[in-house]
Amino acid sequence: MLASSKELLEKAQRQGYSLGAFNTSAIPITKAIFSAAEKLKSPVIIQTSEGESKFGKIGCILAFLLQCAKEASVPCLIHQDHCRNFEMAKKCIESGYQSILADGSALPYDENVAYTKKVADLAHAKGIFVEGELGAVGRGSTFHKGEIPKTEMTDPDQAVDFVKKTGVDSLAISFGNIHGVYEKPPQLDFEKLKAIRAKLDIPLVLHGSSGIKDEDIKKAISLGISKINVNTNLRMAFANALRKSLADPEAIVPYKYMAPAEEAVQEVVEKKIELFGSAGKM
Ligand code: 13P
Repeated sequence: MLASSKELLEKAQRQGYSLGAFNTSAIPITKAIFSAAEKLKSPVIIQTSEGESKFGKIGCILAFLLQCAKEASVPCLIHQDHCRNFEMAKKCIESGYQSILADGSALPYDENVAYTKKVADLAHAKGIFVEGELGAVGRGSTFHKGEIPKTEMTDPDQAVDFVKKTGVDSLAISFGNIHGVYEKPPQLDFEKLKAIRAKLDIPLVLHGSSGIKDEDIKKAISLGISKINVNTNLRMAFANALRKSLADPEAIVPYKYMAPAEEAVQEVVEKKIELFGSAGKM
């Protein structure tokens, strides 16, 4: 069933668990996410990145996702991740996403404020939920070789100013988290997270969860993270299982050779839902 973004996130925040926000660009990945959430009776967020929604032709993939969400037995919402320019944000708002990320994090602070406020004003006029982003969380949901690059973390006082000036409904923050999987897990700055949580009362979002240690994810939730984005771990599970299926030269029926990949993704999503504490919270 389709649920209100505000209600889902505020409930997670009140009850101290995190919603999983899982990226998709393909039918089997989408089915795997819904199946895992239904099996574990968990509310869930399904999201598309800019590349993923363009690959699926925004209106078409959105219609598919909304229909799946309506038919699901658990509360779901459909979110557009990382809109890095106004045109993209406007397109997603007009297409009917329930929630979008206005990502001006690569811009100088004042420009991030101006961009995010402009998107938030347009989205709010249509009743759409807006996530903002302050601080850098890297780019590219993939396996990266080498050291984790240093990223700019979110400043707690600036976060307060940002939320006040833009009117965002939730905030993606940086405290050492970074998109993708690296050879070594990132070191999270929990003092930074605590300081931000103490100053803000809106839901806080963790990007780049793939590659973060399970115990660190649990600690981040206990300190006030209410939405956790997952992509690379799903992509790796899907691609690895698909490579195995396609090793058979006679495998030509997509819904047959993709079935093990769907199962592999479902397994990952189930583990994440258990880890995030959202199982049984529908
Ligand atoms: P990972 O690819 O590290 O799971 O991060 C996904 C993400 O944050 C999408 O916005």
